[in-house]
Amino acid sequence: MSESRAAIGVDIGGTKVKGGIVSSKGALHSRVEHDTDVHAGTKSIIATVHELLERSGELGVAIGCIGVGAAGFIDSRSGTVIFAANLVYDDPKVAEALKARFGLPVVVDNDANAATWGEKIFGTAQGAANLALLTIGTGIGSGFIVNGELLRGATGAGAEMGHTIVDPSGPLCGCGLKGCFEQLAAGRAIARLAREGVTENPESAIMGFASSVEDISARDVARAAAGFDETACRVLRRAGQALGVGMSNVVNIFDPEVIVLGGGIIKVGEPYLGPARDQLVKMTMSQRRRPVRVDVTSLGAESGIIGAAALAFDQAA
Ligand code: BGC
Repeated sequence: MSESRAAIGVDIGGTKVKGGIVSSKGALHSRVEHDTDVHAGTKSIIATVHELLERSGELGVAIGCIGVGAAGFIDSRSGTVIFAANLVYDDPKVAEALKARFGLPVVVDNDANAATWGEKIFGTAQGAANLALLTIGTGIGSGFIVNGELLRGATGAGAEMGHTIVDPSGPLCGCGLKGCFEQLAAGRAIARLAREGVTENPESAIMGFASSVEDISARDVARAAAGFDETACRVLRRAGQALGVGMSNVVNIFDPEVIVLGGGIIKVGEPYLGPARDQLVKMTMSQRRRPVRVDVTSLGAESGIIGAAALAFDQAA
């Protein structure tokens, strides 16, 4: 690894904070992961950077810059959190806090924007000038590259597809509104639909994996679906179809060359992704559009870390 060109990349979401030392070629050389302190997001980031700087010292690697991809509406020009639906940042001025603490150049952007940039520079979307990324986990993050540039909007905090309203009388979202896309197609939607499903059908194999109805997770549903449990398959089909509708909206707004899917929920695989693709094809074909390429991230769970470092290389180094 080129000593002077290594960066620290950090990816903070509602569940995990992950970070790594990344070379200028996008190789991840050291990785850490902790549960997010949902009441102290900035402290979680600082602790992760601190740990990685110590590691870089042990490895003899010089760190040139720090990149952070943070869940929430981020003004990337100042590196400040404007609003976050799923966690609290104890200090919203994240970039300032990191610069003061570590004295290195810092870039702070939205987590999905970082992952999108990572896919363009090092991942499956290399060479694409127009691409969209949806990262599906606790919530849904999105990033759009239009004519080679990340779309940021007037305040630097645009591209929040997860909070577009799909059903105004739908389930309550962490953002305070009802029926956001992320409440219908991501992890929480799967858990909610499964709770409703097992109430109607207590025989469902889902209950063989969950300790109680309240504790059902998307993972439990995925396990039950792997054994062809009808309720589990129906739940994943509904959430997948909602994702497909979202992707068709992306196609109509941005006409991307490729939509990249990432985030923990895509590990559920075909019972979820199949209906999503079918729905997308159905909607785009009926408008006589060509089917759009849909790729799964090639950077995997590390796309946020690598993408945050890529942004730092490009903007802070
Ligand atoms: C947040 C986004 C974030 C996404 C994934 C959403 O709830 O509003 O900013 O990108 O979750 O973490």
